[in-house]
Amino acid sequence: MNIRKMSMVGFSPTRTTKTVLESIASGMDIQASTFIDMTLPTHAEAMCFGSEEVVIIGAPVYAGRLPVHAVERFRKLKGEHTPVVIVVVYGNREFEDALLELKHLVIEQGFVPVAGASFIGEHSFSTAEFPVAQGRPDSSDMACAKAFGEAVVSKIAALESVVGVEIDVPGNFPYKNGMPANSVAPVSRVACTLCGLCESVCPTGAIEVSHEVVTEASLCIRCCACIRACPHEVRVIEDEAWKAIGVRLYTNCATPKMPQLFC
Ligand SMILES: Cc1cc2nc3c(=O)[nH]c(=O)nc-3n(C[C@H](O)[C@H](O)[C@H](O)COP(=O)(O)O)c2cc1C
Ligand code: SF4
Ligand code: SF4
Repeated sequence: MNIRKMSMVGFSPTRTTKTVLESIASGMDIQASTFIDMTLPTHAEAMCFGSEEVVIIGAPVYAGRLPVHAVERFRKLKGEHTPVVIVVVYGNREFEDALLELKHLVIEQGFVPVAGASFIGEHSFSTAEFPVAQGRPDSSDMACAKAFGEAVVSKIAALESVVGVEIDVPGNFPYKNGMPANSVAPVSRVACTLCGLCESVCPTGAIEVSHEVVTEASLCIRCCACIRACPHEVRVIEDEAWKAIGVRLYTNCATPKMPQLFC
């Protein structure tokens, strides 16, 4: 098959998924394209892709599933037998049903999954005190992602067409339950300068900065993008139950996991 164009599409609040997709793309020697970022609520456009392009699509794993906002936004994509590489990035616990969910979603949207992968990214709840998968994806993950991109190109080049191509990925259907409803969000400490950066990175529009920072907790998906973005480190988790999850992950998920490729 002759592929003329490549696109990356991702949902990536703390940017590890974006890094992985870009590393995969670096191994695919096809005319590069930009990263189509579906992380923010402002990205509302529907997009169509043809059969002579390849799309790399990725999202983080939340509670063993895809984040609901990623699913919602990926539903705006439409393929026409477009080959797609499906990728999930998880915080060194498990990815459970997320990759299977992504496979089903892209097929419903008209794409043909030709390869899939799970990679490890620093856990969104990781802190300096209780690090979880700190520094992932690291240089070895990135080298693996690049080699995966090269393998995908070879696979597509050897195909007459994508009709009938199938890949097997782990996971169960019906899927496990995803994230439960949430009632807590990070808070901004008094030293906040009201710079507004946290508002600008929030994938759900949960934050409003005016003379104070107001966060609508029921909209918060606990992605931690606002915490990472705060230049003064005054956006923090105060909820004890949430902090305890971070400590448990630090204790239970210390052994580094490796990327898994399904090609
Ligand atoms: C609400 C939430 C739930 C998560 N659930 C899981 C999980 O089930 N398994 C896991 O290994 N990592 C889990 N993670 C960690 C993310 O998958 C991981 O940090 C990923 O690298 C984040 O991607 P991003 O940087 O593109 O936002 C979760 C993170 C968040 C915010
Ligand atoms: S308020 Fe919640 S959803 Fe918004 S960026 Fe912060 S953690 Fe993510
Ligand atoms: S990014 Fe930090 S300093 Fe800026 S408004 Fe948000 S909490 Fe305040």
